[in-house]
Amino acid sequence: MSADAAEAERVLRPGSAPTLDELVQLRAEFARFMLQYQFGIREMTTKIEILREEFLHLHEHNPIEHVSARLKTPESIIDKVSRKGCDPSFEAIRTTITDIAGLRVTCAFVSDVYRIADMLSQQDDLTVLAVKDYVARPKPNGYRSLHLLVQVPVFLSDATVPVTVELQLRTIAMDFWASLEHKIHYKYDHEVPDDVVTGLARSAATAAELDTLMEDLHRRVHGDRAPGPRRGDPIVPSDDALEHLRRIRDGERGSR
Ligand code: GTP
Ligand code: MG
Repeated sequence: MSADAAEAERVLRPGSAPTLDELVQLRAEFARFMLQYQFGIREMTTKIEILREEFLHLHEHNPIEHVSARLKTPESIIDKVSRKGCDPSFEAIRTTITDIAGLRVTCAFVSDVYRIADMLSQQDDLTVLAVKDYVARPKPNGYRSLHLLVQVPVFLSDATVPVTVELQLRTIAMDFWASLEHKIHYKYDHEVPDDVVTGLARSAATAAELDTLMEDLHRRVHGDRAPGPRRGDPIVPSDDALEHLRRIRDGERGSR
């Protein structure tokens, strides 16, 4: 830990009355800490965007519908530190608060959720710290999603920092359910009436059934047809260009 960070952490501890200089230093240190997570989100977003674009150009079906990212605010990090009784040091916050950087990937089908999770898990520079499979084992309220806690290296000017990012992978139906459930939870201030809880559980089951039906339909329509790039895509060579290539290969010195 740098001397600056050590000093910033001393100021974070209770019982000390920080001077103005110390507060200025703490603010700078906190901003540096947050920036690393912002870069972690950027690295992960790029990885997912690359997969999405590769599928878009070269395959018939794009498994990624939507990607969203959020960085926890310093206020909400500090709230969580106090709720969890976490040591107020950057090192402790780094290991205890694992959802400072969050990415949500919405897929069309359940198989896509696992496919994307597998593809990311296999990337050499990513370390999967934990997997919570609420798709295979939904939460009692009906919540389904696949959560991966990953560590991605961020290359800074003077150091490489492993940054933890929480990835939530889900289908459109799972996302629809989760966002409604979230709103209901807040509306009732976490004291959701029994009949609403039952309604949510039933709608979660319906959402799961919809996922199964949609995937079956998709399989019936598309089968395991070989994927192929589309004509007209700027990365796809024209028939003329391919013909030219064929002539070069065959040793015919054609002009173009
Ligand atoms: P937190 O400390 O609250 O983040 O939970 P956790 O450490 O037990 O992690 P978990 O993987 O269970 O949940 C992490 C995140 O998943 C939450 O912050 C939500 O975004 C989402 N999530 C988990 N459970 C639910 C749920 O029941 N409903 C909804 N809408 N979202 C959920
Ligand atoms: Mg959370």
